[in-house]
Amino acid sequence: MDDDFIDKVAHEIAAPATAIKGYLRLINDTNPPFTEVVREYFADLNEAGEHLSELVDNLLVVVRAKGGRLMAKMVELDLFDVFEHCMSDLDWLAERRNVDITSGFEKGIMKVRADEQMLILSVKNMISNAIKFNRFGGSVIVNAKREDAMTKLTVSDTGYGIKQEFKEKLFLPFAKARGDNTIGVSGSGLGLYVLKILAESMEGDIEYNSIEGEGSEFILKLNTV
Ligand SMILES: Nc1ncnc2c1ncn2[C@@H]1O[C@H](COP(=O)(O)OP(=O)(O)O)[C@@H](O)[C@H]1O
Ligand SMILES: [Mg+2]
Repeated sequence: MDDDFIDKVAHEIAAPATAIKGYLRLINDTNPPFTEVVREYFADLNEAGEHLSELVDNLLVVVRAKGGRLMAKMVELDLFDVFEHCMSDLDWLAERRNVDITSGFEKGIMKVRADEQMLILSVKNMISNAIKFNRFGGSVIVNAKREDAMTKLTVSDTGYGIKQEFKEKLFLPFAKARGDNTIGVSGSGLGLYVLKILAESMEGDIEYNSIEGEGSEFILKLNTV
């Protein structure tokens, strides 16, 4: 199957995936009088919708990168706006897992040169992991720090951390470490693979630190404006 075909299929799936996500949110906003059981089903449906759209977005990046058609449109972006955009998609997931998310910086301070859609997808991949691989009641801190020509966006979590033996596979496609703690966690294992592709396309880089049992931090390095 050629990449162009997969690209078209992914595009075709993107439209209904966006519609499903949008309508689920609209239903949620009407505060429907769901029973406890239906509320749980609805939350599962929301998570499946987010998983589907994350999968399609990530798949499109992989296909374009393989075909040499992934072009970054570099513009000036405020990291806080990107953070807020990501949270508007992920706040309910954080709420569901009772994970507290805070940012350590304000609007108007941290400006970078990056591709808007690429950066949003990168940060969503980082934050969704920090929520999913966290403990119930855990926390996530999103911070930004300027270091000369580069600005570091850091997403730190109080999750289970990454096992030593899994570290060499972490950025490979479809790599997922699952254990008792991650039962019910959805994901395709493309997020970090795509994160690395996107970071490099935006002339940046990705680093991480993780201590098993304590938590992880993923650091996205971008060009400072
Ligand atoms: N913040 C994190 N804490 C612990 N493990 C993580 C974290 N981020 C990623 N991982 C591990 O790396 C794997 C790959 O991540 P990713 O590519 O985003 O896949 P997915 O989120 O679809 O499972 C995850 O399945 C998980 O095992
Ligand atoms: Mg992920």
